[in-house]
Amino acid sequence: LKDEKVKLTFILHDGKRLETEANVGDTLLDVVVNNDLNIEGYGACEGTLTCSTCHVILKKKDYDKLPEEACEEERDMLDLAYGLTDTSRLGCQITLTKDMDGLEVTVPETINDARS
Ligand code: FES
Repeated sequence: LKDEKVKLTFILHDGKRLETEANVGDTLLDVVVNNDLNIEGYGACEGTLTCSTCHVILKKKDYDKLPEEACEEERDMLDLAYGLTDTSRLGCQITLTKDMDGLEVTVPETINDARS
């Protein structure tokens, strides 16, 4: 299953769309790093759940389909994220599955690094 690919799109606050392909099993943070996506400040803590710069907003239908709910640490970090919504998650905590093919996530405008 390792080399299964899904397509996904990051939509930036200015409307720019970064379309990319990613491996099933990678997190959204892995995707940004591995594909060199230019999203300023994204993933500052490298997935250790101590920042909130990997905040993404999902569509409701995708949010509801996520296999795992946010753990307490993630929820605490999300509380510090700028522009929190009901369908917000941290990208480093979302692991891609095959049925997420075509996923579109929005990256909010202001990234708040909870460490600063
Ligand atoms: Fe820091 Fe996700 S990269 S919490």
